[in-house]
Amino acid sequence: MDLEQVKDDITKVLVTKEQIASRVSEMALEIDTSYKGKDVLLVGVLKGAVMFMADLARAIQIPVAMDWMAVSSYGSGTQSSGVVRILKDLDTDVLGRHVIIVEDIIDSGLTLSWLASNLAARGAASVEIVALLRKPEAAKVEVDVKIVGFDIPNEFVVGYGLDYAEKYRTLRDVGVLSPHVYSN
Ligand code: PRP
Repeated sequence: MDLEQVKDDITKVLVTKEQIASRVSEMALEIDTSYKGKDVLLVGVLKGAVMFMADLARAIQIPVAMDWMAVSSYGSGTQSSGVVRILKDLDTDVLGRHVIIVEDIIDSGLTLSWLASNLAARGAASVEIVALLRKPEAAKVEVDVKIVGFDIPNEFVVGYGLDYAEKYRTLRDVGVLSPHVYSN
């Protein structure tokens, strides 16, 4: 979906689709260089990472496998709760494999820090995190991230996989959601 369709709900575009495409190519190149010759499993975190995973995976030139997890990290509203539950686990065994967790956004960092330890405990050869967006001001725990696409301000963002009440995920760009949408 193009911005035009939801322009009344978006106060500002933070990252354009062109910026995303260009940065995703650079990130894929970094992965190609670092992981050449390794058995790589990309682990996408549903649902927000779907768009990023689809674009990043296709831009990567070395062979990689994909798997998915669903975890719940948010309580109600727009704040992280700190409670992480596995709603859907991997279909794949990560033992001895090089795992790259693919995330759309690191907000408090609680989800990723928990997920990285969880996968490392299963015997992965390595576990690294690649995230498209990060909000440094929202960090509650330090997360060691291998590659970040963009550091963004601590605002409510939607688009390119990120939602509010399941809306706006299909927007091509990342924008700041207008408070009128969620304040009623
Ligand atoms: C978002 C995002 C991360 C997590 C980040 O997922 O995709 O998984 O929150 O937040 P944190 O750094 O504060 O832990 P969400 O729970 O909104 O689910 P979704 O991807 O299905 O929208």
